[in-house]
Amino acid sequence: MREYELSPSLLSADFGYVMRDVDSISSCCKFLHLDVMDGHYVPNLTIGVPVIKSIRKHSDLIFDTHLMITNPEEFIEPFAECGSDYITFHVECTDKPFELIEKIRSLGKKAGISIHPDTPEEKLYPFLEKGAADLILVMSVRPGFGGQSYIPESTARIASYRKKLDENGSGAILSVDGGINVKTVKEAADAGAKLLVAGSAVFGKEDPGAAARELFELLGE
Ligand code: DX5
Ligand code: ZN
Repeated sequence: MREYELSPSLLSADFGYVMRDVDSISSCCKFLHLDVMDGHYVPNLTIGVPVIKSIRKHSDLIFDTHLMITNPEEFIEPFAECGSDYITFHVECTDKPFELIEKIRSLGKKAGISIHPDTPEEKLYPFLEKGAADLILVMSVRPGFGGQSYIPESTARIASYRKKLDENGSGAILSVDGGINVKTVKEAADAGAKLLVAGSAVFGKEDPGAAARELFELLGE
């Protein structure tokens, strides 16, 4: 068992050769991060249910679906049915986060909750209680695009969440998303993130498998 895992973000892959890119990381990674954007919560559009469903037919990776959409409650079922293993929504996008977590779990999936860097960190405290969520996703860039720089203040936020999760005896996975690369991966991991999402630093490289292995090495894995 590794202490740290990578979740390469497909956003930076070549969608014309999507399975070639997924296969390139499959022997060294367990997770695949799938970014769903709706053009409302974030100023960009990406993939949705049909693409995830198609990739699911050809991959056994753990699908870490990240919903950056304004109305997540309307889409939990389709994203569960298309093959997601984790479904993460944004705390900014719903008034009923606990119901949503319940819904995701009732469909046999793991429930994650994410927070925008401009949202006060306290907003996620209720979800750091034992059993409240399965994954906590700290955004370390403003969601919407790959290839942005890691926001330095994210490190303190990760450390604060790590401390609270441990104090509460929560087994939720602490994940970080945005600007994770050879320069920042260790800092985020040292602060307490266990699942490191990396898009451009993996799929943006000529050899994504080699890039992922290099990140694992920096993590001591
Ligand atoms: C951004 C997405 C990220 C993105 C990360 O809103 O949620 O998952 O793919 O890309 P990098 O690793 O290039 O910052
Ligand atoms: Zn993401």
